[in-house]
Amino acid sequence: MSEFPRGAASPAAIVDALKAAAGDPPKARASFAKGQCVHGTYIPSNQAEEITKSRSFTRPSRVLARFSIGGGNPNVADTENLVPRGFSFRLGDSNHRSDILAQDCPVHYARTLEQMMAFHEVRVPGPDGKLDRERIRTFSAANPETLHQVNYIVARPLPASFASTTYWGVHCFPATNAMDETRLIKFKIAPVGGDVTLTGPEAKAKAVDFLHDELEQRVATGNVRFSVLALLDRPGDPTMDLTVRWPDEDHREAVRLGTIVITGIEPNEACDGSIFDPASLAEGIGHPRDEIFAARAVAYVISLKMRR
Ligand code: HEM
Repeated sequence: MSEFPRGAASPAAIVDALKAAAGDPPKARASFAKGQCVHGTYIPSNQAEEITKSRSFTRPSRVLARFSIGGGNPNVADTENLVPRGFSFRLGDSNHRSDILAQDCPVHYARTLEQMMAFHEVRVPGPDGKLDRERIRTFSAANPETLHQVNYIVARPLPASFASTTYWGVHCFPATNAMDETRLIKFKIAPVGGDVTLTGPEAKAKAVDFLHDELEQRVATGNVRFSVLALLDRPGDPTMDLTVRWPDEDHREAVRLGTIVITGIEPNEACDGSIFDPASLAEGIGHPRDEIFAARAVAYVISLKMRR
């Protein structure tokens, strides 16, 4: 923990800012507070070993996972489209465990921790409870990359289901195969059957918990399946800036590492007692080198302590 500043842009200060933005609800995650724990299985593809020797990705295993809605409000309506959806999952056995945390937009809203902190600071409501729109505009004009995520989210329609939206791991992960060849990959978690979205009128007619209700029904039909894809890097790709995508990313060569099948709803306690830990990656997938990634595991542990 000592590599982080204790001051303005420390992981602890960012957790405080995330909590404050949501009105500090007790016992809730600082981010992606509303969610549903589930379980299932992972089946590797024949190609997984070309990319990684990680036993989490090359062996079948049970899966613990959680679908979620972004932001720190545990009562946010599922119809709220200005926040991302999240999908976190744990693969492997106790000796070769990997946790992947993904969201349904391919970029983050800050390049650095300092910028992430400032992004939240300008959004703290004044004493009258109102946002200072002028201050937000000035910050956004000086930091245009902090709008990439929200622009993406605003442009895409509401997903019809947690099970019919694509999720991205956002960071660039070094993947090492059995030949000891290492390259950078991005995780893309694609629903089998493709993305399905709602029209404006369809979205308006939905209930506040519709994603959760739909998930329960769909799990009962056995129809919640995702391909776990590795997008392959090319020379010159931006690898440290999470606010930009790789050129031509949607048409990148991708290797299917395996398939996740969600087979049951799990009591939320099974996910709430600990964290999906971004730093937990079995040998064969390394830690991304950007500073945002390094701060995440620390922040998640702080959030866990606060919500216990
Ligand atoms: C690419 C960037 C990021 C992605 C894709 C991401 C995604 C997620 C997801 C999916 C969750 C829900 C975990 C669960 O289901 O239990 C989560 C929780 C959380 N995130 Fe992030 N996150 C990102 C960056 C960050 C950063 C930079 C910070 C702070 C420095 C942060 C702080 C948190 C915290 C505090 C939680 C709650 C942890 C808990 O109480 O269990 N995130 N994030």
